[in-house]
Amino acid sequence: MRVIAIVNQKGGCGKTTSTVNLGGALAADGSSVLVVDLDPQAHATLALGIDPEELDQNLYEILVEPPGARRIEDVILNVSSNLDLAPSSIVLSALEQKLASERHEERTERLAAALDGLTSHYDYVLIDCPPNVGLLTFNALRAASEVVIPLEMSFFAVDGVQKLLETVALLSDRIGHDLSVRILPTLYDGRTRYARRTLGEVRELFKDLCFDSVIRLNVKLREAAHSGVPISKYAPSANGARDYAAFAIELDASPPTTLRNDIPNEKTQQISAREVVVRYRDAEAGEVRIAGDFNGWIPDKGVRSIIESEGETRIWTKILQLPPGTYHYRYVVDGEWSRDPNNADWVPTSTGQENSVLVVR
Ligand SMILES: Nc1ncnc2c1ncn2[C@@H]1O[C@H](COP(=O)(O)OP(=O)(O)OP(=O)(O)O)[C@@H](O)[C@H]1O
Ligand SMILES: [Mg+2]
Repeated sequence: MRVIAIVNQKGGCGKTTSTVNLGGALAADGSSVLVVDLDPQAHATLALGIDPEELDQNLYEILVEPPGARRIEDVILNVSSNLDLAPSSIVLSALEQKLASERHEERTERLAAALDGLTSHYDYVLIDCPPNVGLLTFNALRAASEVVIPLEMSFFAVDGVQKLLETVALLSDRIGHDLSVRILPTLYDGRTRYARRTLGEVRELFKDLCFDSVIRLNVKLREAAHSGVPISKYAPSANGARDYAAFAIELDASPPTTLRNDIPNEKTQQISAREVVVRYRDAEAGEVRIAGDFNGWIPDKGVRSIIESEGETRIWTKILQLPPGTYHYRYVVDGEWSRDPNNADWVPTSTGQENSVLVVR
């Protein structure tokens, strides 16, 4: 069972559309799929033709109880062949407050425990997350081993996703398990030069973290959501249906890459990697991390840090293991992304940001 959380704190980037239509496409290909609607807006529930107000029970009843008290199957509905739904409702927004007195650890494992108790077999569990990183998203990340980040091909797309990758890396550290994170370009309008450039930049920055599939802008996707069925049923020959079908095939064929396991192992490092040391000096900064194409733009992933003081100034030494090549990177200073002030070699990106350049010979 592959448990995949569809996450992005930005609203309207295609999380729900991707959850429902990926679910529809996988189900059409013969996989058994459970869609977990973890957003109090209940858009995935509605997009699968279920009116949350007509249900007596929803995920809230399961998650509010201690693990093991209720079975998630009690609220799961079958919506079409191979496709089931654990529905949401606006009451889910009360969960955070309701569980406020519990330890963080216990509050965030509710969904994972509920899925552990599943007796039905699913090939895929797809979790639609709300547009924020609160308790519900925490529960999703804890339950999942993979994360798909739908990324709208718009001007600030890249900036936002770097912050999100940072958050996911921090959360996965806190949660204590590896997450494979990948990016799905969405709402792509290939007629505009600017969308083409953004896609190019996203591919260049995130390389293998980015799926090959791209979801184009397609009004039929919006119509399908309103009519309460996945696009694979609503308009099987529309571009939206083709794009999600292609994405389903790519996802099904590609095993997850984990955040930490893709760091080169010691043996390959001995053969090919060089130790590269960079330093950042500052009297004001509280936390300095480094992110670049060498670590999938996930701050400090695979990097050894040493912090020293020289009077008021603190010095962050970052030790990287890199095979020969040219790399782009930025520092993340108290959450702000900026180029290396001590490195005169930098390049502007197409979205107006600045990447420092590092050449390892
Ligand atoms: N590829 C697309 N082409 C056209 N419209 C789309 C596409 N993807 C999503 N939409 C539409 O854009 C709107 C936002 O999409 P969606 O609800 O999937 O985003 P979301 O990330 O789940 O939003 P939220 O953060 O509010 O949960 C919806 O009206 C949806 O129908
Ligand atoms: Mg949504």
